[in-house]
Amino acid sequence: MNDLATHDLANLEADLAARIAAAPDTTSLEAVRVEALGKTGTISALLKTLGSMSPDERRTQGPLINGLRDRVATAIAKRRQALEDAELDARLAAGRLDLTLPGPPRRRGAVHPTMQVMDEMIAVFAEMGFSLAEGPDIEDDFHNFTALNFPPRHPAREMHDTFFFNRGPDGERKLLRTHTSPVQVRTMQKTNAPPTASWITAGREPPICIISPGRTYRCDSDATHTPMFHQIEGLVIDRAIHMGHLKWTLDAFIARFFELPSVVTRFRPHHFPFTEPSAEMDVQCEVSGGEVKIGQGEQWSEIVGCGMVHPKVLANCGLDPDEWQGFAFGFGVDRLARLKYGMPDLRDMFASDVRWLAHYGFSAFADPNPASGLS
Ligand code: PHE
Repeated sequence: MNDLATHDLANLEADLAARIAAAPDTTSLEAVRVEALGKTGTISALLKTLGSMSPDERRTQGPLINGLRDRVATAIAKRRQALEDAELDARLAAGRLDLTLPGPPRRRGAVHPTMQVMDEMIAVFAEMGFSLAEGPDIEDDFHNFTALNFPPRHPAREMHDTFFFNRGPDGERKLLRTHTSPVQVRTMQKTNAPPTASWITAGREPPICIISPGRTYRCDSDATHTPMFHQIEGLVIDRAIHMGHLKWTLDAFIARFFELPSVVTRFRPHHFPFTEPSAEMDVQCEVSGGEVKIGQGEQWSEIVGCGMVHPKVLANCGLDPDEWQGFAFGFGVDRLARLKYGMPDLRDMFASDVRWLAHYGFSAFADPNPASGLS
């Protein structure tokens, strides 16, 4: 190869140039590249001969062979670009992007029926002029029991019903509130405190007209009881509040909540330590095939515990029972959700099964009327 003639290089270059130009696609172009510039390619072989040349020869042959290699490499790169452009053009011309096809499905969350019903109840009570009051889930014996006139040995204080914490250094046992009634106590105690800056407008002079929604806890589990459940309690205190106000409030609420023009209800005497007289209110309903239909039929479904606030409770909370009186009521929110939307087992509601939620849950966006998940 030492005497490689210039015209041989020219021939090789012309031949490669022709084949590069004629390569119909990137695969055949790559074959040409390997043949010329690959490890055992023709131009690579020529480059190897430089090592055995005399310095003079190398001085003339070196630039020729290197120049050839560079020009061929450039020609191949150019041709590759052109072929790739053409291939992309062809693919774009042949393929179609259908922008009307639906996208991949996206999993949507749902509002839990308890939260839906909580919002519906709050909306109805807000329309009736109730404010919202909240309190802690972890309570002390005074707010949960003593102030509410529970006798010292009342069974509800025992381990069986109440989740107690270990005794603290001061000997006090905190507990998970068994009802939202401690918020009554906290609200009445705050009546002489300045109004809070927050949107929760509890803590004013009577008249008091509040509801307190929240989680409550009892050591209990069956189809109609879960260790954690939800209540909305109401408290109305003024100078001349009586049972008639209580009955009207509950009747109006129940009709609005169940979207009925009116409902038939009855008071059944009951006992709560913190109300006197105390009652449970039943609503007329029909139970057929495990389904409860409110507002028709001959049967009764218990719907809310209530009564006139016991004078001792008023006194325990710093209100003079000779000046103030009022009523209180407590709804089980999960129970109302079951009655309105027909969930068979309360325990399923808190099992965190997304299939259950997909079935019974509510859209967060579709409901224009906060008082009803159905409209
Ligand atoms: N706190 C009672 C309960 O949890 C309900 C209730 C509230 C009853 C207010 C009367 C008045 O069972």
